[in-house]
Amino acid sequence: MRMTFMHRISYNPHRPTGLHVDAETTAAFTSPDIQAVHLSLEEYCPTPLIELPGLAARLGLGRVLVKDEAHRFGLKAFKALGASYAVSRLIKEQFAAEGRFVALAKDFYRQTDLIRPGQFTFCTATDGNHGRGVAWVARKLRQHAVIYMPKNSAVARINNILGEGAKVTVIDGPYDDAVRQAAHDAETNGWTIISDTSWPGYECIPRWIMAGYLTMFREIHDVLTKADRIDAVLVQGGVGTLAAAASWYYNIENPTHSIRLIAVEPVTAACLKASIDSPGGEPRSIHGESNTIMAGLNCGTPSPTAWPLIKQGFAAFMTVSDDICIRAMRTFHYPYAADPRIISGESGAAGLAGLLSLCEDTTMSAVRDKLGLGRTATILLLNTEGDTDPESFGRLVRST
Ligand SMILES: Cc1ncc(COP(=O)(O)O)c(C=O)c1O
Repeated sequence: MRMTFMHRISYNPHRPTGLHVDAETTAAFTSPDIQAVHLSLEEYCPTPLIELPGLAARLGLGRVLVKDEAHRFGLKAFKALGASYAVSRLIKEQFAAEGRFVALAKDFYRQTDLIRPGQFTFCTATDGNHGRGVAWVARKLRQHAVIYMPKNSAVARINNILGEGAKVTVIDGPYDDAVRQAAHDAETNGWTIISDTSWPGYECIPRWIMAGYLTMFREIHDVLTKADRIDAVLVQGGVGTLAAAASWYYNIENPTHSIRLIAVEPVTAACLKASIDSPGGEPRSIHGESNTIMAGLNCGTPSPTAWPLIKQGFAAFMTVSDDICIRAMRTFHYPYAADPRIISGESGAAGLAGLLSLCEDTTMSAVRDKLGLGRTATILLLNTEGDTDPESFGRLVRST
């Protein structure tokens, strides 16, 4: 079958030579608590970094490495890294305000009597994975969770959250409306918002969530040798919190060489690309309802706390269609040569969808050259979710 490519790409005209990061964001990313809190989760185990030599050969690349977050905590997505860390910090700060001290040490999530059961009701909007992470953390700490989801949310993803004992409200609108509704209802009911996206006046928790994602990049570094060097990372973008963590890690925490970070979004929900394309590179919203199978990336507005790191640290921004995303899911599922199989859900496969577009579209050769995606390049992909909606996953990987 001949593939039609629907992607677009923008280079970043706003990259400074050095990144400027505000003090609050720097403090969030440099806290030693991140590692301690994750180690305190009994499900914690570094997820695998998988090499796909067959795919690399096929695409004319040196190496393709995939960080496989489908194995994270038994939740099939990376998102609970953020929620678990943010909730621990929130509790630490709240206790401190009451004159009590809680250490974010290796036993944090193993203390069953830390908080009175039902003291908090955590609330957030989600396309699925972040809300499941918040509900999972709430259950661990014997707290309540109320999760808002956009209309047309997959039944399996709703059930995953209900399965953690949370209440789920599906609203009649897109993700951005769910964010507003969650914030409004939390305010009215005295609930605690654990949102991965930020807005003016609500920045602290999204910063901690962003910092929690660092564990993923640090785990990658831990298994690489000194001789390994990553040349480009394709990072899928929803509100941009994951992308901001990648920018911090590769530009500031571990700036080994001139790595190229490439953001990948659905054609119909490309708020990061719209922002970089705007005059001055200011955050821009995509209005209206967008349809894409990449539910986790179906967000209309970049998170204001994430955007400065993305604007300063990413080389390029591209979009991918659902068709190429399905092909990426199938490429992971039916691997080339002796490559291992990877279970990659719709949003998880978006990075590979971007790479396939760049490597297989003959009109993209100048872009490939400019981004240094050649025969010696090592590319990192993040499989950010597995089959979080197994029925849809099965249908899509079996489709021809
Ligand atoms: C599987 C998956 N990948 C990537 C993302 C994008 O993360 P962010 O919204 O932080 O950009 C999400 C967001 O929910 C997601 O669920």
